[in-house]
Amino acid sequence: MKVGVIYESTRGRTKAMAEAICEGVTAADAECEVIDAKEFNGLADFCAFAIGSSTRMKRVLPMVKRILSELTDLKGIPAASYGSYGWSGEAPDEIANRLIELNAEIVIDQPIKAKDYPGESVLEECRNLGTLLAGKCS
Ligand SMILES: Cc1cc2nc3c(=O)[nH]c(=O)nc-3n(C[C@H](O)[C@H](O)[C@H](O)COP(=O)(O)O)c2cc1C
Repeated sequence: MKVGVIYESTRGRTKAMAEAICEGVTAADAECEVIDAKEFNGLADFCAFAIGSSTRMKRVLPMVKRILSELTDLKGIPAASYGSYGWSGEAPDEIANRLIELNAEIVIDQPIKAKDYPGESVLEECRNLGTLLAGKCS
């Protein structure tokens, strides 16, 4: 079992957050997979996961929207959301609300948001999230 970090990103900013989350997972000696949302193939391999999207027109991007609509009951699986944004940043909240609706165990109080390209402090938050998710798998 490993931690899955799913992302959809237009300019690589949310992807950079995904990679930092996985760095935190591997630093905690757990396995991690970064998954482009268009290649997402279900949660069967994962003991915990994070899902991220940047915000477009106040919503999540289309592949993440599809994943969120297709997921079924998450039965307490540890999860979190994240994403880069430009000015309003609704997408990570939209994801978190859906995860709560599906009974995931949300492991952080607030989704991680990066305005534009994630700076070092946000990348550190992402790594910490990865370590937290790894801890939920052991
Ligand atoms: C067409 C378009 C619409 C956008 N709409 C929003 C928006 O409603 N709210 C917001 O916070 N940012 C918005 N943005 C900004 C992106 O979320 C921002 O550039 C983000 O850093 C992109 O991250 P990514 O590289 O992971 O896709 C929009 C950008 C584009 C190109």
